[in-house]
Amino acid sequence: MEVPCVRVGREEGEPTRARLAELDLIADTYEIDVDGETLYIPVTDPEAAPDEFEIVSRVVPKRETQTMPADLLGFDPSYERLGDVVLLDEDSEERALEIAQAIVDSDLPAETVVNKQSKVKGETRIRDWEVLAGEGTETVHREYGCEFALDLESVYFSPRLATERHRVAQQVDERDQAIDMFAGVGPFVIPFAKRGATAVGVDINEVAIEYLRENARRNGVEDRVTAIAGDVREISHEYEDWASRLVMNLPHSADAFLDTAIDLAGDDCVLHYYDIQHEDAPFEPGETAIRVAAGSEYDVTVETRRLVRSYAPHEENVCLDVRLER
Ligand SMILES: C[S@@+](CC[C@H](N)C(=O)[O-])C[C@H]1O[C@@H](n2cnc3c(N)ncnc32)[C@H](O)[C@@H]1O
Repeated sequence: MEVPCVRVGREEGEPTRARLAELDLIADTYEIDVDGETLYIPVTDPEAAPDEFEIVSRVVPKRETQTMPADLLGFDPSYERLGDVVLLDEDSEERALEIAQAIVDSDLPAETVVNKQSKVKGETRIRDWEVLAGEGTETVHREYGCEFALDLESVYFSPRLATERHRVAQQVDERDQAIDMFAGVGPFVIPFAKRGATAVGVDINEVAIEYLRENARRNGVEDRVTAIAGDVREISHEYEDWASRLVMNLPHSADAFLDTAIDLAGDDCVLHYYDIQHEDAPFEPGETAIRVAAGSEYDVTVETRRLVRSYAPHEENVCLDVRLER
């Protein structure tokens, strides 16, 4: 089977492998292939690989030594990995337990297996999980060279948004004063600060803010990160007219916070606005709400309309990158 690989000269092989491993991008079920002076390093997500790497498609040998859950089950189960926790979304308890056992018996580096028990819910957007194998739900997840400590049972985190967060982070530089209005454990705030920005993360979930502080220390950016526990509407006066960049990842209800966003925005501010809408007009409701909130105070330019992922049948998770100029 052909798989996406990074093609690199032998001399650059080890630093390239190390960089891809740091980004958690190596497809470790395949061997690295050698052809003369050229190496082919299989990767899990070619789109997430930094632009400097050349991606090609190539038939490479499967790694024989690793036993994967599919080898034990006879079917390929779907799961996500968050640090050393494996996330399942199975309706049947029996099938979930069968998959969990196979994961434990396989060579996957997994300490805990959990199965989704609810949608994200309430103000803090946390799900219920059933622990099927292992003990704690606390883990350390790596994404694009950043480390995030978190506990799935007490904070929101979705590994599926990694590519999207990276897309946004790449727009940030040291001149930015950024506020993530719904920051969670910091998956926007930390990479922003790593790129030199001054970053503020606000969250109503105090546990998430504790993790955000820990993650700032873990990633060596505590001097550029301010973490505030509370309702963003109540702290906005402290940062009025301050932000050059705002992140609003609270789909379904972000529109109710647009007046606060306008209070926080400086003279020239980029707003990354996440929404979930019907596929027929996924961008229009957000765009209209932003224009209404900005009123005559700002010129509004939509710089990007992006489909992030399909959320449910006929529903799209989208992002609008919008420039507000006073
Ligand atoms: C969908 S999560 C996004 C977290 C993070 N930005 C990410 O992408 O992983 C939304 C977050 O908003 C927080 N939240 C909800 N209402 C809030 C409010 N009024 N003020 C501040 N944070 C709030 C929740 O606790 C939750 O952590």
